Amino acid sequence: MNEKSVGILGLGSYLPEKVVTNQDLEQLVDTSDEWIVERTGIRERRFAGEDEATSDLATKAAERALADAGVGAEEIDLIIVATVTPDMFFPSVACLVQANLKAANAAAFDLTAVCSGFAYGLVVGSQLIRTGMYRKVLVIGAETLSKITDRTDRNTAVVFADGAGAAVLGETSPGFGLIGADLGADGTGGDLLKVPGGGSRRPASAETIAERLHFIRMNGQEVFKFAVKIMGESALKALARAKLAPADITYLVPHQANIRIIQTAAKRLGLPLDKVVVNIDKYGNTSAASIPIALDEAARSGKFKNGDVIVMVGFGAGLTWASSVIKWYRK
Ligand code: UT7
Repeated sequence: MNEKSVGILGLGSYLPEKVVTNQDLEQLVDTSDEWIVERTGIRERRFAGEDEATSDLATKAAERALADAGVGAEEIDLIIVATVTPDMFFPSVACLVQANLKAANAAAFDLTAVCSGFAYGLVVGSQLIRTGMYRKVLVIGAETLSKITDRTDRNTAVVFADGAGAAVLGETSPGFGLIGADLGADGTGGDLLKVPGGGSRRPASAETIAERLHFIRMNGQEVFKFAVKIMGESALKALARAKLAPADITYLVPHQANIRIIQTAAKRLGLPLDKVVVNIDKYGNTSAASIPIALDEAARSGKFKNGDVIVMVGFGAGLTWASSVIKWYRK
């Protein structure tokens, strides 16, 4: 088999302007800056404006990724948007972005794997290029979680936030790009993190609104335990598929859910923290957007050199998890 090597040709991200500090949240719920920093590592986060929806953030991130790649919107064959906060049930955010970008030649769909969504999308997009079906795929992780977070629930209100990140995928130098991956799910853990109302099980009604069922419900402690276990396991599987070991990792780019989860996962993989890309202090947990935002910031800062082994690990509701190993290459 003469399979193509598929890599990241360009990256972009977009964070809404509105900065919300821990002190701002102290005004809304019974919490403190000290608790939030110590238990989560978050100092501030961004919230989208009232008239700003997920497709707006996604479009801006995508425009930056296209510019970074030097690829025109008309060259894109497929747009995948990983999100759980679409502008509306349908049309998909991917279709809205396709229209905004004037990417007339692109197929478009949304992918639901919650915080693992971008990492799932990366694998799906790469495979469609590898097999020769498509040449260029735009994968976007975009969320406006502030719109589905209960501002009276201190368990979630201090954690979730908004942002978008995007990657243009295409053929890369042989032997580089995506060289290993692992995708997984455990639907039996679905109750640990969910938005119970507004879907076909409990359609939106005065009752579902009164019961606040349209907001995120999370069993933080159980999700925490799952996260620290699965991050190491999934990264190891993806590395094994690339015939590599943790010692080969140049940088780990984890989903930014909680600094303590990140630290524990790094420790289990035997990685010093200077090999881990962290920006949770600035942006909080942006679900599907967190990995591409962190990746974009690290790449733009000149951190990555050709040949570096970059491991991304996502985990989240579903439960889901996804890891990918990229041998970095940029012209
Ligand atoms: O994106 C992927 C999915 N999500 C995650 O990965 C999230 C994983 N979970 C977490 O990050 C953490 O569980 C949280 C940050 C959500 C909570 O931190 P924790 O250390 O697990 O806190 P806890 O739920 O064990 O609560 C400890 C104490 C409790 O008080 P008592 O019962 O000991 O008196 C809570 O009521 O902290 C209290 N607490 C808070 N106090 C101040 C919970 N949230 C807050 C808060 N401010 N915001």
